[in-house]
Amino acid sequence: MSNLIDGKQISAQVKEQVARETAALREKGITVGLAVVIVGDDPASRIYVNNKKRACETCGIQSFEYALPGTTSEAKLLELVEKLNGDPAVNGILVQLPLPKQISEQKVIAAISPEKDVDAFHAVNVGKIMIGDYDFLPCTPAGCLTLIDSTGVSIEGKRCVVIGRSNIVGKPMAMLLLHRNGTVTICHSRTQDLKEICREADILVAAVGKANFVTADMVKEGAVVIDVGMNRLENGKLCGDVDFEAVREKAGWITPVPGGVGPMTIATLMRNTLSAAKLQNQVKA
Ligand code: GUN
Repeated sequence: MSNLIDGKQISAQVKEQVARETAALREKGITVGLAVVIVGDDPASRIYVNNKKRACETCGIQSFEYALPGTTSEAKLLELVEKLNGDPAVNGILVQLPLPKQISEQKVIAAISPEKDVDAFHAVNVGKIMIGDYDFLPCTPAGCLTLIDSTGVSIEGKRCVVIGRSNIVGKPMAMLLLHRNGTVTICHSRTQDLKEICREADILVAAVGKANFVTADMVKEGAVVIDVGMNRLENGKLCGDVDFEAVREKAGWITPVPGGVGPMTIATLMRNTLSAAKLQNQVKA
């Protein structure tokens, strides 16, 4: 039976720390602000955005919501991003993805000022992460790293397997594990012998987007299993990429869904927004 990694509790600690620091900045006359842009009415995006706004309140961060209709043109969204780039009350800009088809996500990400890119999606920030000299880490992978660290299991020299190669999770996750001296393998939809590779992993991160994709026979006894998946089942229940009940019997540590990676992503966003405000106000970290 594995130990549960409590993302709710760990994220609460991170948010408390952020709240303490934003209060200290306020004493110096510095406020911290995050602009959250949502285009269209995707129900999952709406839930994420609401959770982000609630976290801002907890952390003493001012949130500015821009909810635009799904028919919004790319030019209109780019115009808004430009305005937010120039707004001194806005330290961080988050454009919730996915965007409607008529808008290029890459163009919008490229338009966000790298200093305000609290998602760390901009090519400048991605490049900085690649060379290991960065201002922000992408929220979900950084949150996963905090969860792994909470177990006390060292990453150094361990076999780490990441399933999924998205720009948001898989690729940066692999890079962060590499920075910690893990021996990293990225698996994806074309990977041969996936089960055998996963079974070697001391640390297994699943970011596939398929319910119950990781079964117990893919997991090494005692492994740390981090489940990034957020899949909505037909009955409305939220479930991860890992067959939780079976895998928890085998893993050493495991994150639940909900209550694992999700809250950590948001807590890391709060931390990044604070870092952005410090950078923009030349306050030492
Ligand atoms: N959509 C799903 N995850 C994310 C995220 O971390 N940031 C943004 N901007 N959109 C998302």
